[in-house]
Amino acid sequence: MVEQIPVTAPEREPERQIFFIEKCKKWVQEEETKLQRDLTVSIQTMGCQMNARDSEKLLAIFEMMGYKPTEDAVADFVLYNTCTVRENANQKLYGRLGYLKRQKSQNSHMKIGICGCMMQEPTAVEKIRTSYPFVDLVFGTHNVYQLAEIFYHQLLNDVLYVDVWDKPGEVVEDHLPSVRKYPFKGSVNIAYGCDKFCTFCIVPHVRGRERSREPEEILKEVKDLVKSGAKEVMLLGQNVNSYGKTLKNPITFAKLLEMVEQVDGLERIRFMTPHPKDITDEMIDVMAKSKKICNQLHFPLQSGSDRLLKKMNRHYTKKQYMDWVDKIKEKIPDVALTTDIIVGFPGETEEDFLETMDVIRKARYASVYSFIYSKRTGTPAAKMPDQVPEDIIKDRFDRMLAEIHKISAEIHKAGVGKVEEVLFEEINAQDSTMITGRLTNNDLVHCKGDASLIGKILPVKLTESMGFYYIGELVK
Ligand code: SAH
Ligand code: SF4
Ligand code: F3S
Repeated sequence: MVEQIPVTAPEREPERQIFFIEKCKKWVQEEETKLQRDLTVSIQTMGCQMNARDSEKLLAIFEMMGYKPTEDAVADFVLYNTCTVRENANQKLYGRLGYLKRQKSQNSHMKIGICGCMMQEPTAVEKIRTSYPFVDLVFGTHNVYQLAEIFYHQLLNDVLYVDVWDKPGEVVEDHLPSVRKYPFKGSVNIAYGCDKFCTFCIVPHVRGRERSREPEEILKEVKDLVKSGAKEVMLLGQNVNSYGKTLKNPITFAKLLEMVEQVDGLERIRFMTPHPKDITDEMIDVMAKSKKICNQLHFPLQSGSDRLLKKMNRHYTKKQYMDWVDKIKEKIPDVALTTDIIVGFPGETEEDFLETMDVIRKARYASVYSFIYSKRTGTPAAKMPDQVPEDIIKDRFDRMLAEIHKISAEIHKAGVGKVEEVLFEEINAQDSTMITGRLTNNDLVHCKGDASLIGKILPVKLTESMGFYYIGELVK
């Protein structure tokens, strides 16, 4: 237990958080003295890059409080950063909590926290309260930077403490440091939230309205990353190409890309995710002439049927989408196009599905993230009639996967024999004489090499295509 929150706690951020970090640090030191060992923390991240980035920020706060990070599933503090985009993400959490309950019954000092998108849903929080009361703290996506303050509240009474905000607060820039997973690459949020409200999607409901960060703040973060050794940066947003519209001095995403391109020492720029509705000629032109923007575009289709695209609230037609694809391929000839597709959206007929297959054949994606439609309570699609039976979805999904794999294998085979630049990332987990890296189009390459190559960009000859990845040889 700790003492009541003193009135001297600063009101301003980040001073307020630094104050609570110090308080928690004292508690951690006392616990360590009691247990005669270090306290460990394990953050388990589900979902997308947004959550991965939040986890980096959370880990930094834990480290400032004195916790030592561990990759183990069990630690003195286990924090689940959850995703709720599809139902199976939720099931995964409940499965893990069952396991942790047993662990905690043997280690009563253990703390369990849950944060992230799923905690923005009141029904999920209610379920934690009633079925998993051994959880110690719950917070959401809008107050990640307040981890220490939330933790301190938990310590006051040592019972479940819940602090979930239904919408984002004033603080866009948290100004607390974060721990980067890799020294040679990092991601930078350019915008938070989403205003698109695709009818199947829960993200706008759990991540709030779209907010862009000031370009100066973004550039400062990119420069700091480069200073600490990063060669590659990933600009993150749910809709990167609607970036900047709501700023006091509005700017376009294309302009932001040009500004990031100017950062000396930066070699690769990636971004996730653009929306087909907001793509512009300016953006394609900037990509085409850039020396740093990677040769890859994730361009989520969702469906090839105009009827379904309308019901999904996607704001484009199959023809508009294909016209952009043609333009992109004309201006950026080697671009690796990737996409997201949902099979089994309510009311999907065989005809609708064949329209999607038609786009797959024409767009020739290097890879596709395909999803079976998952009903999300609170979204308009959940109430739509004609939910598609499971066996029909399964059959369509299998047919689609076969087509995707065939095209992807053809595309990857065409790469064999080429010499391409690879940014080396890590020693291969299965074979320690091999090192793994990525091409500018994001494909994985494995080749003979050692840890001294990590973080370097070097030419590699692609000798064999294994479907989704290559085997290569360093060009001496
Ligand atoms: N902002 C990004 C995607 C975020 S979610 C975009 O617009 O592309 C990532 C992907 O999950 C989506 O592109 C979609 O294909 C899939 N997805 C979202 N909600 C889903 C649902 N209810 N069922 C199945 N897949 C879903
Ligand atoms: Fe979801 Fe659509 Fe927003 Fe992407 S654009 S996050 S799919 S609502
Ligand atoms: Fe999941 Fe939240 Fe990302 S719902 S996909 S972790 S924004």
